[in-house]
Amino acid sequence: HKNLITLEGWTREDLGFFLDQTEYMEELLNRPIKKVPALRGKIVMNCFFENSTRTRASFEIAGKVLSADVINWSSSGSSASKGETLRDTVWTLEAMAADAVVVRHGEVGVPDYLAKKLTKASIFNAGDGTNGHPTQALLDLYTARQKLGNLEGAKMAIIGDVLHSRVARSDIQAFRKMGAHVTLSGPATLMPENTASLGVEYVSDAREAAEGADILYFLRMQRERQEDGLIPSIDEYHRRWGATDSLVSLASPRAVVMHPGPMNRGMEIASSVADGPRSVILDQVRSGVAVRMALLYLCLGGVR
Ligand code: CP
Repeated sequence: HKNLITLEGWTREDLGFFLDQTEYMEELLNRPIKKVPALRGKIVMNCFFENSTRTRASFEIAGKVLSADVINWSSSGSSASKGETLRDTVWTLEAMAADAVVVRHGEVGVPDYLAKKLTKASIFNAGDGTNGHPTQALLDLYTARQKLGNLEGAKMAIIGDVLHSRVARSDIQAFRKMGAHVTLSGPATLMPENTASLGVEYVSDAREAAEGADILYFLRMQRERQEDGLIPSIDEYHRRWGATDSLVSLASPRAVVMHPGPMNRGMEIASSVADGPRSVILDQVRSGVAVRMALLYLCLGGVR
């Protein structure tokens, strides 16, 4: 494949192959000298129209470990703020011989639109509005498989603001394809209407979702995307849907706690859980580098 826009259409075999490639990349990262010449001479443009810490830095590190030249571009401070259109901006970047454009944008569908407009460069979706965040789902899947083994029949609870979460949409696609059963929980006002058509169950009571779960996935409260009046108070939210020690104690003995970051400590997650023995949140961050290395390698340098 040339692009990664969505995980829709990926089979279980595609996902398994990708996770195996990620394992090789992680082995490279564990060596004292990490750099290899696999993508020497390739140019990767990181184009972020929305803020990011993890995704941007890990695409940059991934490209650099594979010896690509990585250029970081963000909309603030660019000619986009002078009114240049998205299409002109990205055509300009492609004209500078970029081999790949990593794009994050607040609007749904931007990576797909760019993939149709650009003829040469690969496009990688680093998050589009509330729609999808495929590389996050791949790193979540990789981390969960590493900790739990085969995910067939695993119970996953995704708790929080699903309505605004591109991570939840991509994770539902990826984890269901690997055979996990997904239950959603959170305030009814922060749930999409079509939970059944996503192939998942919704329960209002987070304790019901957490009971016996192998994966507890807590979502960030996306205050910047929420309309006033949709959300309960912080205290009520934390008490009913937050990751607390008492909620986590209901999960299976092998359960892992995940969060995509950035975290609102004291809101959707208590520090005792975020920093506790079941948390794999920093493993997720670490996996993000290997996942993005595998993506860059497979699309720009390796087998197509
Ligand atoms: N999880 C995630 O996408 O984090 P950033 O917004 O920091 O990239």
